[in-house]
Amino acid sequence: MTDIAALEAELTAAIGAASTLQEIEDVRVRALGKSGSVTALLKTLGKLSPEERQEKGPLFNGLRERVTNLLAERKAALEEAALNARLASERSDVTLMPPASPKGSIHPISQVMDELTEIFADLGFSVAEGPEIETDWHNFTALNIPPEHPARAMHDTFYFPEDAKGERLVLRTHTSPVQVRTMVDVAEALKSGKLKADGEGDIIRIIAPGRVYRSDSDATHTPMFHQVEGLVIGKGIHMGHLKWTLETFVKAFFEVDAITMRLRPSYFPFTEPSAEVDVQCQWGNGELKVGEGSDWLEILGCGMVNNRVLEYCGLDPNEWQGFAFGCGIDRLAMLKYGMTDLRAFFDADLRWLRHYGFSFLDVPTLSGGVGA
Ligand code: PHE
Repeated sequence: MTDIAALEAELTAAIGAASTLQEIEDVRVRALGKSGSVTALLKTLGKLSPEERQEKGPLFNGLRERVTNLLAERKAALEEAALNARLASERSDVTLMPPASPKGSIHPISQVMDELTEIFADLGFSVAEGPEIETDWHNFTALNIPPEHPARAMHDTFYFPEDAKGERLVLRTHTSPVQVRTMVDVAEALKSGKLKADGEGDIIRIIAPGRVYRSDSDATHTPMFHQVEGLVIGKGIHMGHLKWTLETFVKAFFEVDAITMRLRPSYFPFTEPSAEVDVQCQWGNGELKVGEGSDWLEILGCGMVNNRVLEYCGLDPNEWQGFAFGCGIDRLAMLKYGMTDLRAFFDADLRWLRHYGFSFLDVPTLSGGVGA
C-alpha cells in the first residue's frame, strides 16, 4: 500500500517536473512502458490468489488510470505552451507595408507618340510605317531632291557603302519616305482598280511617326531622333484644310484653347508653297507657356505637296492635291513636359526616367480630345 502511494507520489512529481514532450515520454515509458514500474505491478496480479487480486486489482488499475490521465494532461499543457510560443515567434504583422518592388515607366517619347496618334486618330488619320533603312529614291529623289540638289546638304545623311550598281542606301533622314511609299501604293491601287475614288473624300490621310537619323549631336540634336509627319491627299485639298488641321492639333496637344499661330513662308523641295508654323508663347520662371505672349516658337514645317512629288509617286496633279507637315516628336515632348537637354532622352538614366517618365496607371490623357 505505501509502496503504491510512494510510486504514485514519485510519478506525479516527475510528470509535474517534465518541461518538454521528450521528458513526458521518458516518464511514460518509465511507468507504463513494457518494463515500466506500473506495468510491473499489473503483471504481479496474475500470480496472486483470487482474493488478493480482488483487493489489489482496483488499486493497481486506479494507479494506472491516474498516471495515464496525468501524463495526458501534462502533455496537452506542454503542447499548448509550445504552440503559443510558436505563434508568438512567427507572428506576421499584416498591417506592415510590403517592400516596394521596382516600377517601370513610360518614356516621354512613347507618351507623346501616343498622344499624337490619339489626336490624329480623332481627325481620321491612320498610322503608316516604313523601313528605317531607305533607298535614296524614297528618301530624296521622289521628294524632289535629286542627287545634286543643295537640299541634300541640309540633311546630314548617314550613307551606306555603294552597291555594285553604284546605289547607296541611307538611314532615313525624315519619315517623308513613308509618305512616298503610301502614295506609290495608292496610285497603283487606283490604276489597277482596287481602289475606287469617285466621291469627294480623301484617298490618303496618314501620319508617319518614327525614328529618323542625321549625323548631328548637341543639346538640341541627336543622331537619332523622332518625327511625325502627316499627309492628306484628295480632291480640292487646300491650305485652309492644312491650317485648320494644324491648329486643331496644336490646341489638343498643348491643351490650350486660345492659340495664336502663324504660317511663315518657307522652302521645302517637296512642298509648294511651303511654310513654317510658329505658335505664340511666353517664357516665365523657367517655364514655357504656349498659346499667347510676346515670343514665337517654331514647331513644324508644312506645305502643299509639290506637283513633282505627286508625279514621281504616280498621282496626276491635275486630279489630286494634298498637304503635308512634319515635326520633331522629341522637341514637342521637351516643349510640353519641360526637358532641357535632348540627349537625356537616350541616356537610359533611370533617375531621369523616374523623374520624367509616366506611370502606366497615371498617364496624362488629353482631357477633352479633339473637338471638345
Ligand atoms: N520632311 C521635313 C523635314 O524632315 C519636314 C516636312 C514634312 C516639311 C512635310 C514639310 C512638309 O525637315
